[in-house]
Amino acid sequence: MYIERKMNAVRQKEQVVTFTDGNHQTSFDLYSPQALEILSQLWSKAMVNSKLHYDVKWMGIPIIQFPEDIVMMQELIWKIKPDVIVECGVAHGGSLIFYSSLMEIIGKGSVLGVDIDIRAHNRAAIEAHPLSKRIKLLQGSSIAPETMAQVKSTIAGAETVLVILDSNHSKEHVAKEIQLYKDFVSKDSYLVVMDGAQAFMHDLPWGKPEWKEDNPLKAIEEFLAQDKNFEMDPSYNRLKVTSNPKGFLKRIA
Ligand SMILES: C[S@@+](CC[C@H](N)C(=O)[O-])C[C@H]1O[C@@H](n2cnc3c(N)ncnc32)[C@H](O)[C@@H]1O
Repeated sequence: MYIERKMNAVRQKEQVVTFTDGNHQTSFDLYSPQALEILSQLWSKAMVNSKLHYDVKWMGIPIIQFPEDIVMMQELIWKIKPDVIVECGVAHGGSLIFYSSLMEIIGKGSVLGVDIDIRAHNRAAIEAHPLSKRIKLLQGSSIAPETMAQVKSTIAGAETVLVILDSNHSKEHVAKEIQLYKDFVSKDSYLVVMDGAQAFMHDLPWGKPEWKEDNPLKAIEEFLAQDKNFEMDPSYNRLKVTSNPKGFLKRIA
């Protein structure tokens, strides 16, 4: 569970960490579960603030993910062994290359990347990559009817489908994407909704106050409250440092 309180300082003395919030101080043993939770959240915020997660490549192509989340996606893809992954939000394409590299080892599968703006140099780098044979790119808004029609026809016939939402992170957009893409997800596979941690980034130096309410996490929570065909799988958040809190939604019915 992420901690909502604003932490202004962390001090360490004899294995005790003290978190200061205004005049209020809370101390935990450094090795306690509580300290692990809070430090993980603070690490996530510091990492996003420094934009370190923009400085990761997968097989030569930038992937905008926390390393911990990449490892968790690897576990998920290895478990599900999808015939198709649909990802909304391509950027440079590193995540598409990452999923394809696992599919190459698994020996099956293709990836459909949807993005409203696939830059020419990114497309060229993806298409020149040795793993491009497993990748199809589709330019358009992820929620536009013409995009949906193309997604449907591209994945027709695939038995095991995994969907990843990592495009526009406003609550409204993510809520629409969830409704439009949830039925593509096959039973026992997952709808992965990324960047719920935007909810905790509103007070970064370059954060936006509105992110506190306007974020993917709110869309996830509202969806889970009304759709009982999906449940949140917390095991993929167990490393605690994550951009995707509550983001791994398993289709159970
Ligand atoms: C966070 S980046 C994707 C990162 C990528 N999945 C990765 O892991 O490297 C978000 C992308 O979503 C795209 N995007 C924004 N709004 C969109 C929309 N309405 N439909 C589709 N893509 C959109 C942006 O153009 C941007 O490339």
